[in-house]
Amino acid sequence: MRIGVLTAGGDAPGLNAAIRGLGHMALRDGHEFLGVPNGWAGLAEDFNPRPLTDKDLDYIVGEGGTLLGTARYNLNDPPNGRERVLETITNNLDALVAIGGDGTQSITHWLAERGAPVVGIPKTLDNDLLGTDYCIGFDTAVSIVAESIDRLITTAASHHRVMVVETMGRATGWVAAMGGLAGGADLIIIPEFPTSFETVVEHITRRKESGYGFSIVVVAEGVNLETLGGTEYNGVNTSGIGGVRLASRGVGNFLANRIEEHGGFEVRTTVLGHLQRGGHPTAYDRIWATRVGVAAYDAVINGQFGMIPVVRGNEVVLAPLTDVTGGQRQVPRDLYELCAGFF
Ligand code: F6P
Repeated sequence: MRIGVLTAGGDAPGLNAAIRGLGHMALRDGHEFLGVPNGWAGLAEDFNPRPLTDKDLDYIVGEGGTLLGTARYNLNDPPNGRERVLETITNNLDALVAIGGDGTQSITHWLAERGAPVVGIPKTLDNDLLGTDYCIGFDTAVSIVAESIDRLITTAASHHRVMVVETMGRATGWVAAMGGLAGGADLIIIPEFPTSFETVVEHITRRKESGYGFSIVVVAEGVNLETLGGTEYNGVNTSGIGGVRLASRGVGNFLANRIEEHGGFEVRTTVLGHLQRGGHPTAYDRIWATRVGVAAYDAVINGQFGMIPVVRGNEVVLAPLTDVTGGQRQVPRDLYELCAGFF
């Protein structure tokens, strides 16, 4: 078989581990393994895949990024991008494995509905793909947030400051909530559970009055500015596929400025940004990315197209792509309350 693989959307630590798991299995069984460069662009534009060998895949399990390159590619501009992708797959590949988040998997699903031999792999640092407990890159991001908070606590305590830490998290607050929990943050603000500015001030004031000279406030980049007393705006600083580039809205800085203007606190902001996506994946990400990569290979050789290996509990199971498209998986209230329980 000619098996192609691509990574689309934002990169995430663990992508190479998944490509390696899938590729070593395919090559072991004598298949051709083709790396499609730069996401959907590599199928919608000139088709120049890179034949991958075992040597290419050796020792990349711990490498961050993606050896294939990735892109936020708009298949509607120029138009008919999806049709061009479908044609390239039909003419050149016996199977395609697409590694990506909800945007990627909705395209994979569209292709599957038209008979393309496609299988997905769940990846989004935000960890909010429906139907799976795990997405490639999330554990690394959480570890980076936790380690950052560890470091920020010591300087916050020394200077008696409030530290506002902005994390990634477009529509949901998994990275902020789990990273904040692991780092021992004092207040966590995520899109799912709007928190007013007054609540933030009450909280840090209570801490100060109780003798804590500092506070660590974690806020997800996607938190609506209006919930914190600001003005939301749209349409500026768009990313390659037309969404608002959330980090440029500056929710962390906005909150920090408001707290300082309120008075009584010295505040600093740390925007963790792409540090959460760069560098080596954790062992957890390496292991689970490998497992979903190998499961995607099994789906391909068994002809189970239109499916995606997902993690449920401690198992990898095969689910239809419809299970992971059409929304985001939100942080449930009980888990958020666990994070908030120590405040
Ligand atoms: O979708 C994952 C994500 O990491 C978001 O948390 C973040 O808003 C976005 O990607 C950043 O994307 P880019 O690297 O294109 O600016």
